[in-house]
Amino acid sequence: MPTTEKSPRAFARDGAAAAARSAAKAFWWTANGLAARALTRPTKGENAREFRSEAPAPRRNALRRAWMEALAKDAADVRAGVYPLTESLAPPTQALDRALDFLKDARDVDRRRRKGDGVEVKSDPKTSSFPNYYRQNFHFQTDGWFSEDSALRYEAQVEALFSGAAGAMRRRALSLLAKDLVEADQRDLTILDAACGAGAFLSDLKATFPRAKVFGADLSEAYLSVARDRSGAPCVQTNLERTPFADQSFDAITCIYLFHELPPRVRPVIAQELARMLKPGGVLAFADSIQASDAPELARLLEAFPVFFHEPYYSTYQELDLARLFESVGLEEVAADQAFLTKARLYRKPIVSGVA
Ligand SMILES: C[S@@+](CC[C@H](N)C(=O)[O-])C[C@H]1O[C@@H](n2cnc3c(N)ncnc32)[C@H](O)[C@@H]1O
Repeated sequence: MPTTEKSPRAFARDGAAAAARSAAKAFWWTANGLAARALTRPTKGENAREFRSEAPAPRRNALRRAWMEALAKDAADVRAGVYPLTESLAPPTQALDRALDFLKDARDVDRRRRKGDGVEVKSDPKTSSFPNYYRQNFHFQTDGWFSEDSALRYEAQVEALFSGAAGAMRRRALSLLAKDLVEADQRDLTILDAACGAGAFLSDLKATFPRAKVFGADLSEAYLSVARDRSGAPCVQTNLERTPFADQSFDAITCIYLFHELPPRVRPVIAQELARMLKPGGVLAFADSIQASDAPELARLLEAFPVFFHEPYYSTYQELDLARLFESVGLEEVAADQAFLTKARLYRKPIVSGVA
């Protein structure tokens, strides 16, 4: 890990800074999320989205506890030097610009939500060469994955949705990975963030492994251009169903919040491709939505999510046996973690004796 030369006092200071920044972020994005909901009132008025469920509503306490646990685990990992302090607070004018842009766009998001229109981008000819499942306005977001405006707005949208805990939740995968690679010489490591999107996690990865070769890959050139600016990492546009990377290219691959957005037939294809690119002994650090079996008390929330945020493949993801999926491509689960609405897993590609 890069932070081992620091004094215990410096670790403690970073842990405290992580907790303070998380609290500031949580306050800011909770307020933004509330403002967006107050502006749009998605469950009220004309063409409101309807949602019914047999599952009981989650108790406020359960939700708040799970949310706070995500922030606490994140700060504890910074304090322990598992990964460095990566959260930085944007300058006030930039934070305000981002928030205003998010709030302005929230009305368009709500218009799509009320119409149930999750495929607006399909009418744009520039999307025609992409897979059909990809040509959608996931989360009812403006331009789907197809514009830089969308890429620049994305982090505000997820942080408002998760009350400022998105970064902390993603870093459960970083925690598993950093602990696994604690003894490795970073200069020998090549790491890929698969489906890096606009690069928030890729930046955390680069900060944690500053001497490793770290790459991003995604199908969206617009998102990659923001990811490059944000992280400084080289990024490759590719469909993860079939990438240009050679067999056994990477010591580690990370994959965050991709699998719930894939149709069932594509998940095994991408899982196979990730396994192909890993070196024997290499690891896949995976994070995605929790499944109802992980937190039965949040089941109703998980049922509501795809209704309000256009997630056409989310219900099949809820049924997915992740361990079996990755086992079918030769990866073994070796570590697990969970925080708030995200689960993280570490899968290893075994070293088969006699095979280089
Ligand atoms: C929900 S976003 C997650 C992005 C990022 N990992 C994060 O945590 O913010 C899903 C990402 O997967 C990418 N994606 C979806 N299908 C893909 C595919 N077949 N090949 C490559 N990228 C894909 C999208 O472009 C998008 O950036």
